[in-house]
Amino acid sequence: MRDQAERLREIISSIKPTREEERTGGSLHGRKTWSRVIAVTSGKGGVGKTNFTVNLGIKFAQMGLRVVIIDADLGLANVDVIMGKMSKYNLSDVIKSHKDILDILEEGPSGVRFISGGSGVQELIKLNKVQLVDLLMKLGKLDDEADVILIDTGAGLSENVLSFVHAAREVILVTTPEPTSITDAYALIKTITYKDKSKNIKIVVNRADNAAEAFNILDKLNVVTEKFLGVKLQKLGYILNDPCVSKAVKMQQPFVVSFNRCEATRNLNDIAITLMDNRELNPASVSGIKMFINRLTSIFN
Ligand SMILES: Nc1ncnc2c1ncn2[C@@H]1O[C@H](COP(=O)(O)OP(=O)(O)OP(=O)(O)O)[C@@H](O)[C@H]1O
Ligand SMILES: [Mg+2]
Repeated sequence: MRDQAERLREIISSIKPTREEERTGGSLHGRKTWSRVIAVTSGKGGVGKTNFTVNLGIKFAQMGLRVVIIDADLGLANVDVIMGKMSKYNLSDVIKSHKDILDILEEGPSGVRFISGGSGVQELIKLNKVQLVDLLMKLGKLDDEADVILIDTGAGLSENVLSFVHAAREVILVTTPEPTSITDAYALIKTITYKDKSKNIKIVVNRADNAAEAFNILDKLNVVTEKFLGVKLQKLGYILNDPCVSKAVKMQQPFVVSFNRCEATRNLNDIAITLMDNRELNPASVSGIKMFINRLTSIFN
């Protein structure tokens, strides 16, 4: 039976550019042209989005990908807390200062880079055309610098959260097994798909007691959304309720770093592999950070 490590090696070699691609700097064979932008969200708060985003980012980096995490949670930004490293700058500095985006990204474990949205998220709403073009030029650099850009959004149906979700081509929706969380996840799916039926929504059940419980929820949620909303979700996987997550948060170290053999880390590994599966890398699902910011500002306006 092929083990996880072998699958990982296969995926990494399929992602890495060939000599010819490195030489030309281009993307022959339809390989990487833009970053893959993925928004992580939830209906209910406190379900584990930020831990999921940070640890997934580090897993990707360990797989050899270049990762940037944008903390877009306006009220409760805490990607940096979980990374154990405070960020000096936020998106507002990119908008206002002449600094290069690459200079103000903080570096976390395994080379993952991150930036806090901070007050910059509100400022996006007020950008005029000239400022927008300037911001696109600055952030556009990330398309060359990152294979994956993960965006940690806030929870719920607020306009801000929905804007990020609508602007991203791919969305990962996190829920726990609690009925309140599942109901709120459904409400969010309904709102998202009301606007865009083709949105690629992937579901993760976090804090599951066991695999059977998680798959039961994934199946039921999918049946209901297909029947009432005509939308098929992608069942991305699950993460068990695992004490190592909370221990790691207290240590301010991502659990995939400090507990690399715990259940949650194994579950996250499976999710990272599923996400990086070749079929997922079709050009239709990869549209880059420039496209994302463009959509975001047009939604705001
Ligand atoms: N798989 C898990 N097993 C055990 N505990 C977990 C797990 N995932 C998350 N937690 C606990 O849930 C807490 C909240 O997680 P996190 O801050 O990532 O949620 P969030 O969805 O980002 O919250 P918010 O909506 O406030 O942004 C963590 O501090 C941790 O204690
Ligand atoms: Mg959070």
